[in-house]
Amino acid sequence: MYRIVQISDTHISRYGQFVEEMFDKAAKRINELDPAPDIVVHTGDLTDTGVLADYEFAIQKLKAIDPKVIVAPGNHDERNYGQSLFRELVGPLEYEFDSGRCMFFMMNSPEPDRDEGRLGRRRQTYLEERFKALPSNKVKVVAFHHHLIPVPHAGREMNVLEDAGDVLDLILSYDVDLVLMGHRHVRRVLRIGRTFLVNAGTVSSIRTRGRLGHSLNIIDIDEHGEVKVQELKLKE
Ligand SMILES: [Fe+2]
Repeated sequence: MYRIVQISDTHISRYGQFVEEMFDKAAKRINELDPAPDIVVHTGDLTDTGVLADYEFAIQKLKAIDPKVIVAPGNHDERNYGQSLFRELVGPLEYEFDSGRCMFFMMNSPEPDRDEGRLGRRRQTYLEERFKALPSNKVKVVAFHHHLIPVPHAGREMNVLEDAGDVLDLILSYDVDLVLMGHRHVRRVLRIGRTFLVNAGTVSSIRTRGRLGHSLNIIDIDEHGEVKVQELKLKE
């Protein structure tokens, strides 16, 4: 079995909307999971405002999580020229990570100082070429910040990926196993064909919605490639 933990929208900051005790609780719960996660995927808004103090604090906080953490940038991470700090302190804004069992495509959906996001033709073409080249037994995981389909309880829907129709078509055409997203602080899991579309709630932003609370996702992939997604609520 391969175990992925998805965390999202941590909004780490000294002064913003960060709830530090909730992040600490999440790190503890992740480290105590049995079996231990193979990897933790963060789907963006690592920081609240993208400034240097936020990034330095975030790097410090991430050290509390034992498994390897890979991060796709969120719109808050690219505020205030934060993308330069993301590159310097976190890693490339987009990249592939080959875990052996899974191929992770970490994509950069935000654009600096905009809340909206898109992948665009260049990334779509790139993904298509990569999907074609992968062996069929490789589990394909695509992660980006903006959501691909509308989520409930999110109010007026404004920030679905601008090219969601084309990206969804690409994802479904190549039977991508898993799409990991964040942004709206609402957890939702949908399955279309073979593909699981997993939207994460927020781990540690003060901006929860209604009584949805803080949560993270535990995703298990068995030896046949079957995917199971569970929610871990941080309140209980
Ligand atoms: Fe966001």
